[in-house]
Order: sequence, then structure tokens, then C-alpha cells
Amino acid sequence: MNKAEKMPGNPLKIQDNTFRDGHQSIYATRMRTEDMIPIAEEMDSCGFHAMEVWGGATFDTMHRFLGEDPWARPRILKKYITKTPFAMLIRGQNLVGYRHYADDVVRAFVDKACEIGIDVFRCFDALNDFRNMESCAERIKANGKQFQGAVCYSLTDVRLGGEVYTLDYFVRKAKELEQMGADAICIKDMGGILSPYDAYDLVSAIKKEIKLPLHLHSHYTSGMASMTYLKAIEAGVDVVDTCLAPFALRTSMPAIEPIVAALRGTPRETGMDLRKLLVLGEHLESIAPKYNSHLATHKLSIIDNGVLAHQIPGGMISNLTGQLKEMNALDRLGEIYKEVVQTRKDMGSPPLVTPVSQIIGAQAVLNVLFGRYVRVSNQLKDLVLGLYGKTPMPIDAELTKKILKNYRRGQEPVSGRPADYLEPEIEAAKKTMGDLARSDEDVLAYILYPATMTKFLQAKYGMESPKEAGTEHSHKKGAAA
Ligand code: CO
Repeated sequence: MNKAEKMPGNPLKIQDNTFRDGHQSIYATRMRTEDMIPIAEEMDSCGFHAMEVWGGATFDTMHRFLGEDPWARPRILKKYITKTPFAMLIRGQNLVGYRHYADDVVRAFVDKACEIGIDVFRCFDALNDFRNMESCAERIKANGKQFQGAVCYSLTDVRLGGEVYTLDYFVRKAKELEQMGADAICIKDMGGILSPYDAYDLVSAIKKEIKLPLHLHSHYTSGMASMTYLKAIEAGVDVVDTCLAPFALRTSMPAIEPIVAALRGTPRETGMDLRKLLVLGEHLESIAPKYNSHLATHKLSIIDNGVLAHQIPGGMISNLTGQLKEMNALDRLGEIYKEVVQTRKDMGSPPLVTPVSQIIGAQAVLNVLFGRYVRVSNQLKDLVLGLYGKTPMPIDAELTKKILKNYRRGQEPVSGRPADYLEPEIEAAKKTMGDLARSDEDVLAYILYPATMTKFLQAKYGMESPKEAGTEHSHKKGAAA
């Protein structure tokens, strides 16, 4: 079909994730702002629906490893990218950290993110308990920005179905987001386990019930995502997330170039200039050698075909093997895979995404090495106590009793909104920080990352050893969603 014969259609929109999830997925989030600037203006002229430039693990790695002020990147990029909206990934009440923060912190963080140039907030919760997104949503809307509600995709069977993750579950969740005032809905398939035909059914069902724009975010991890996108596109998905080819595939998102090429001459033609994308890809190839030490090279296959068999996401497997190595028990990995499935079921079948994936993985290791729930982490106790929110399925009463026995934070599970159990944090942090707190940005960053941010701010202000350094509680390290 040539251009003249093209049917009037419904062009597929594309969100570019090269500057956030792309390098987070394959280069441990190490891309520097200086390597984005040379192509920023060209990227702006491509016609992306949005560009994801912040959130996820960027805040952590920028100050911890790159010596960059995490607040600065969107401000800098805004000078070059003036037309394309900026998107960020935010973990609801977890923000861009690894625990639940009090409402005063969440509100101030979202206000600040709006101020530095974020236009679209993709907000999710690891348990799909949307009460953990209420404070975020309220501030996003109050600032006149876009609240994109994301549902974490998960499975309780080899395909859509089983005891929790049915078609009906996802439609119901999307409706909940619509009722919360979402401006768009996103299916967030962080594990790359959404199969093509399930995507077709899922997108068709949600599109039928809900008029909001529908996004699909999938990772290439299992090798299915390009096929999955194509079926979702056929079913009418409005926006898909991609990266430029050098930062795509592997555990990242599908590449944009084949999608643009595949849709040419169809009603869903993107209208994007393929030649321009190829030139942008060349820039990434030219800077890639700087980052290649972070690329996983332990095997030839660029897909993790194990995911197809056991559905345990790649990021979680590297955490598990690390933990087993430390305990000198790497030979028990096969048992651990089975135990992860059981532990997840015991914990009410939550999606395997940060921070819950780390909590379940670590507990599965303890269960195999010491017997089921003989040793239990405090994070798992908090999960059972209800402090992360409501699990998709209830946790068995006997098991709850066993796990919470003598737990100092409580023995009876709570059912309220998790943030309602947290005291405000900002004023206390200011006191602890003393001279180190020179702006509200400093205070927020310190609350999220007390230990590493203290070092960062000391260096920034040329201070040797502030009196409170080293007294903060450290955060849990882990792969981000
Ligand atoms: Co992602």
C-alpha cells in the first residue's frame, strides 16, 4: 500500500524510555545527563507522545554513583526539550526510594517534581493497592499535571487467569484508577510476561469498558514483547513504550525502529521518521562503550528464556544468586525457584515488583536454608502485618500468627491505608540534618537516601563531617522497578 492509499487511521503513539528505563534496564541506570544533551533537541523533534526522563532508580544512581544532583536532570533537559512532555515513574508512597514515606514527604516530593518539569506521572503500587497512590494522585492533579495510573501485570497461571490475575481483575483495577481520576491507564508488565494473545484480550477488554488512553509498558526479557505490542496495537492500545535500538531489547523495552517500520502503510502508522531514529541510534552507539561494563555478558542469549518457564523476573534472579553466593548455597537455586512460587502464594500472590519481589525472594532463600518461616525478615513481617497494603489474596490466619509472633510492631494485622500509620517526617529530618539542609530539595533527598545523600551534600557544600553523619538508618538496596 503506498501513502496515497493509506487508510485514515488511528496512529500509534510512542513514549520513548531511552533516557530512563532503557539504561536502567541494561546499563544499571548509569547514563549521564551529558550523554543525553547532544541528541536532546533531535529527540524533541521526533514526535514522541512523551519522554520518560526521571524516576525509577535514576534518583538513587545519580547521586550515589554519578555525582549528579538528582533534581537537576529534568531542569537541564527542559532547556533542549521544549515540546515533548516529560514522564517519570513513581512508586506511589515509595516515591523513588525503597520504603513507604509519610504523606508530608509524598506531597512535597510530587510538588517539587512538578516544579522541576515533570508533566506525566506514571504511578504504581507493588501490591496494586491504590490507596498507596492517593497522596501522589492528589498532588499531581492539584498541580495540573497528568496522573497516569498503572496496574502491575502479574500471573497466577501460565497465562491470564487462575485465582487472582484474570481478565476481570485487570478490568476492575483499571476502573478503580478511572474512579481515582486517572488521566490515562497503563498496563505495567515489568517482568515481560504478558503474552501476545493475552495482551490482545486485555487491551480489548479495557478499551471496551474505559474511554481513557491506554498505555502498554512491557519488557523484552522473555522475548515476547515485540509480538505482545503488535497484538496490543491490533486491539487498539493507544501508546506503547519503546527505546532506541541500542538501549532496547534484552531486559529493556522493544526497539522503536522495527515497530515504526512494521506499521508503515497501515491504519496505525506512527508518522515517525525512521531515518531520524537511525541517526539518534548512532549517537547512542558512539557513547555505549562507556557503559558496556554494566551490560550483562554472562550468556550468549539476549533473552531470559527461563522466565517463560518459572516467571521469576531477571532482576530478582540476580538478587537471589547474590544472596545464595553469600551463604555458600548456590547449588540450591533450583529449590529456591520452587520456593519463590510457594512463598509468593503464601503471601497472597502479589506481583513480583520492587520492593515486594526482594522481600519474597529473600524469604524464599531463608525458607529453603532454615525451614519454612523459621527465620523471617522484618520486611516480610511488615508485609504480613499489612504495612505495605492489602495483598491480592488474604494470607492464611495460622501462618500470620506464626510469622507475627512477638513482633514488636504488632501481632494483629492492620487494614487501614498504610501511610496512616506513619508520622510526618520533614520537620524531624530538618533537625537531624542541621547545616546540611540548605533547601527543601536537600531535605527531601536526604529523607529518601539518608546515608548516601549525606555524603553527596557534604561534597556539594564543602563540609567535612557533619555531626549527624552516620547516624541515619540505611535503606534497603535493590533493583528498582
Ligand atoms: Co519498566
